[in-house]
Amino acid sequence: MDFFEVVKGRYSVRGYQPDAVEPEKIRNILEAARIAPTASNRQAFRIIVIETEKNRDKLKQIYGREWFTEAPVTICVCSIPNASWVRGDGKNYSDVDAAIVMDHIILAATALGLGTCWIAAFDASSARELLDLDDAWEPVAFTPLGYRRAGNPNRTKKSLEELVIYK
Ligand SMILES: Cc1cc2nc3c(=O)[nH]c(=O)nc-3n(C[C@H](O)[C@H](O)[C@H](O)COP(=O)(O)O)c2cc1C
Repeated sequence: MDFFEVVKGRYSVRGYQPDAVEPEKIRNILEAARIAPTASNRQAFRIIVIETEKNRDKLKQIYGREWFTEAPVTICVCSIPNASWVRGDGKNYSDVDAAIVMDHIILAATALGLGTCWIAAFDASSARELLDLDDAWEPVAFTPLGYRRAGNPNRTKKSLEELVIYK
């Protein structure tokens, strides 16, 4: 799929079929994440691949929406703030790195015909505890990963004129 078709084809999917995702596709998605850029190439992130069926009760406590546990696979991207690059003025780029990793996952999934949805509104302390995360890791985002069942693209996007400033 052409890059621009992928970017235009992506939208937040909030309804999934239970059909399995091919291991080869998961592998390709993880490979796209692995090579994502990170500040100063610190690569201070971890990706947790969660089998939804086996972990459904835990996932429901982490984020309660019904559709969140419909897809067969759920992915969590964690940053490792104390290993991330920090700018001279003290700004830690760990969230930015994790967001780029998640975006690679989401765009790779789209290119392979799979649906995803960025999720930040989860219960972080439940996620840490129930997924037994290392204390140094910060869960930044989740996404279900599976074949779309429902959902419409949200096309209410601002125009370039509103978003871009030329100097
Ligand atoms: C950082 C971030 C956090 C988000 N968190 C959630 C969330 O917790 N739950 C949810 O349903 N959607 C979440 N979304 C999806 C947004 O609501 C969605 O991207 C936005 O409405 C635009 O729709 P689109 O993704 O279909 O273009 C999040 C998106 C981003 C980028």
